Amino acid sequence: MRRILVAGNWKMNASSADTKALLNGLLDAGNLSCDVAVFPPFPYLTQAVSELNGSAIRVGAQNCSDQRSGAFTGEVSTEMLADCGAELVIIGHSERRALYGETDEVVLSKTRLAIDAGLVAVVCVGETLEERKAGREETVVAAQLTLLLSELTDADWKNVVVAYEPVWAIGTGETASPEQAQAIHAYIRTLLAERSANIAEETRILYGGSVKSANAADLFSQTDIDGGLVGGASLDAAEFIGICRA
Ligand code: 13P
Repeated sequence: MRRILVAGNWKMNASSADTKALLNGLLDAGNLSCDVAVFPPFPYLTQAVSELNGSAIRVGAQNCSDQRSGAFTGEVSTEMLADCGAELVIIGHSERRALYGETDEVVLSKTRLAIDAGLVAVVCVGETLEERKAGREETVVAAQLTLLLSELTDADWKNVVVAYEPVWAIGTGETASPEQAQAIHAYIRTLLAERSANIAEETRILYGGSVKSANAADLFSQTDIDGGLVGGASLDAAEFIGICRA
């Protein structure tokens, strides 16, 4: 049985004061019946780990290097993230693919390094509006998953979460309908099943793109939607708790 995971991607937002306030707000909510993770910017990771110490809320990073260590100025390795107490890392977010040229090869390298460091890799896939209009959404997500499906071992897959984030729904207020989202999640699960029935059964597939407390229950009740990767709404404690409660 896959447990719902609600993951808050703060993107390049928040200060240390905001981090404290937001996390205290989440802690005040008490026990939430799903898995919860927050993804603050790098400088606040250790702060988040210490604020959340003893709670069930996990901390993750929004990105990592595709290199193990060495002369890569400005990069942060997966070993460093694990050393800071992070337990997850988002890889291949559409903003990184579009703005920083991350390819499927880079996504694979980062995913391997994340798993080697003991992190859970939250790997993002999703089509642009143009691709959806052309009816190419399945082709696009299949291509984004091809290398991961061929190169990662069955054991690796135990530490992978897939996040389907249609680019046209990110930060736009426009959400895929529960039926639209379910259809592509089911398709992604079919791709996983072609690789292994166990991987298909066990891997969580999150939906991302304008998830709010008002639409979360409808999305999360779909058979193949195992939670959400939340951007904007994760910066508001009450809203994020509302999503977790959904
Ligand atoms: P929004 O929830 O702000 O649309 O962002 C989604 C997202 O990109 C999460 O990674």
